Amino acid sequence: VPRETYMAVKMAIDAGYRHFDGAYLYHNEHEVGEAIREKIAEGKLWATDHVPEMVRPALERTLKNLKLDYVDLFIIEVPMAFKPGKDIYPKDENGQWLYHKSDLCATWEALEACKDAGLVKSLGVSNFNRRQLELILNKPGLKYKPVTNQVECHPYFTQPKLLKFCQQHDIVIVAYSPLGTCRNPMWVNVSSPSLLEDKLLNSLGEKYNKTAAQIALRFNIQRGVVVIPKSFNLNRIKENFQIFDFSLTEEEMKDIAALNKNVRFVELLMWSNHPEYPFHEEY
Ligand code: A2P
Repeated sequence: VPRETYMAVKMAIDAGYRHFDGAYLYHNEHEVGEAIREKIAEGKLWATDHVPEMVRPALERTLKNLKLDYVDLFIIEVPMAFKPGKDIYPKDENGQWLYHKSDLCATWEALEACKDAGLVKSLGVSNFNRRQLELILNKPGLKYKPVTNQVECHPYFTQPKLLKFCQQHDIVIVAYSPLGTCRNPMWVNVSSPSLLEDKLLNSLGEKYNKTAAQIALRFNIQRGVVVIPKSFNLNRIKENFQIFDFSLTEEEMKDIAALNKNVRFVELLMWSNHPEYPFHEEY
């Protein structure tokens, strides 16, 4: 039964299965493919598409690119807008960024309509501070809460206050740059030392026969933070998944949390003059 295959594959993906024995002969390729595509997809709304009328076309463009009917999650990438248009990094003739006034609640309502239209299952945000989250949470007539806030988070930037606030409101923190970025000085503040060279992370790695990267990832998932490590290397992609077969002690969790330097690697400086720049506020 096609529907059964489709449901079974989706359940298996949730359970951790990653190898599916489909075959033309079995007449199940279509269902297997559909289930896999639906499980992997997530999209982001870019800053030039915050104007409410542009939200749905932007999502439809994402769906077309992904060859999907819907995505599981669609998030506002930054709480600030650029001038709408084709240019994704718009500047004026003097090289100044062309900002646009943000109306986060209006953008959010347009996203809610996309969910009602079945184009997306869950809505989220990224790089929002507490005030900006509250703006959405306290919006009169709010239909759907943000389910996630994707922010920088790792042992050198642990986000204790924002994490607590989000947990109180059932918003999952998704940690970007959980390994401390690739340290490209073009966009990374490299004045903070390299995370993966940290002494404590490396000594705990020795104790558990893991790498510093695995300790950093385990720290976050063990406190309920989702991690999205980036790697183009097959061995490191595998390594970054091998974090569910050990646990850190409470004491070790505390010691790692104490590494927090309150310094961001990712400062999003191109936005620092925008009225909604999120990082001027404490959290
Ligand atoms: P590579 O793609 O060569 O593996 P983040 O997720 O914090 O942005 O970090 C990404 C950077 O960390 C990339 O430079 C990536 O390089 C590197 N990286 C990813 N996984 C590991 C790992 N397990 N150990 C060391 N470096 C890693």
